[in-house]
Amino acid sequence: MTVYGTRPEAIKCAPLVKAIEASDDLDGVVVVTGQHREMLDQVNALFEITPDHDLDVMSHGQTLAQIFSRVLDGLDPILAAERPDAVVVQGDTTTSTAAALAAFYRQIPVVHLEAGLRSGDLASPFPEEGNRKITSQIAALHLAPTETSRDNLLREGVADGDIVVTGNTVIDALYATVGKQVEFSDPGLEELAAQQAPMLLVTTHRRENWGEPMAGIGRAVATIARRFPDLTIVLPAHHNPLVRDALLTALEGISNVVVTGPLPYGEFTRLLSLACLVLSDSGGVQEEAPSVGTPVLLMRENTERPEGLTTGVVHLVGTDETQIVEEVARFLADWPRRRAAVGDIANPFGDGLASSRALAALESRYARQQHVAP
Ligand code: UD1
Ligand code: UDP
Repeated sequence: MTVYGTRPEAIKCAPLVKAIEASDDLDGVVVVTGQHREMLDQVNALFEITPDHDLDVMSHGQTLAQIFSRVLDGLDPILAAERPDAVVVQGDTTTSTAAALAAFYRQIPVVHLEAGLRSGDLASPFPEEGNRKITSQIAALHLAPTETSRDNLLREGVADGDIVVTGNTVIDALYATVGKQVEFSDPGLEELAAQQAPMLLVTTHRRENWGEPMAGIGRAVATIARRFPDLTIVLPAHHNPLVRDALLTALEGISNVVVTGPLPYGEFTRLLSLACLVLSDSGGVQEEAPSVGTPVLLMRENTERPEGLTTGVVHLVGTDETQIVEEVARFLADWPRRRAAVGDIANPFGDGLASSRALAALESRYARQQHVAP
């Protein structure tokens, strides 16, 4: 049983769900919690996944405790009815940890996809760092994306035999999508792609940036747009009203800022590959950017994905408004060289085969012939 609820989990679970579907040795069940609604459905539609169960938990203004308790409550009867041999959860969201705990309470083995990421700071990213540490405590099988994440788990006492380094399935999803050169549904973006003018892509949504830091990010983007009139800035805004209200006020009426809704994954990854730079606080974007040769300025104080920093694709710029403007200006002064410099860097997060490795690990533990009927 694979359980997921938000956009990034859906993108990262999709390749594994497809691999399980194609397996002769495993039967798959897909449960979505609906922690996200439109942004989740968008991904399931793209990958042609029809969930077997949908908890439909999302509400506007949802608190972490509400999401957690609704997932725990909603999933328990499904676990009782389906009696899966293992439950796969992905990453560090509230859905992920609540689903892991629901399975643990039923003594069903938890398989943690994207295990072992650590920032070392419980406050950032919040609550994700705490979520992933909790899930690591109760998981039976840890599918780590990199050697660094494997080492983090070993340091915390996880047995070597329970860890498999698979790479990150987000790169599988990216490869399945980015080559297709899907058309943008907004003709304005299609025109922009044809012009080949410098384009800055911006995404932001982190909970620790809600409120004044997010408003500061909005003002920083407005300052950059005014200072560089030949630059087009594309900002696919998250659905969260708290993010939109804080971020978008400063950007109204600026002609070289294009604000869109959340883009379908194929459109987003095409934009990512066209951008000269991405300014973001996203986890997944840090992992995808090396594969399309686009540098990232990361609006965070730290990252649980240090591989991006060590390869030179990702640079931390924090969330201070002035600092963000200065770092982007410095990059733009020299952008063709700086973009070209990351073009040949191999992606440290994955090679597109993570879901095959994850499937092999699942089959070796939970294949149908090993199933003992209840
Ligand atoms: C969640 C995850 C975060 C992940 C992010 C990806 C937690 C604690 N946070 O944060 O780890 O990086 O997703 O985007 O699990 N909304 C909609 N429609 C949607 C999606 C969201 O309207 O399709 C709005 C709703 O008002 C919702 C709000 O956004 O209440 C916040 O969603 P939530 O999942 O609570 O937080 P995120 O910041 O999206
Ligand atoms: N993404 C997308 N459409 C968008 C913005 C992002 O499909 O408009 C994808 C992006 O390619 C990445 C994932 O969403 O795979 C990242 O999601 P998000 O930043 O919301 O969450 P995080 O990765 O920070 O948990």
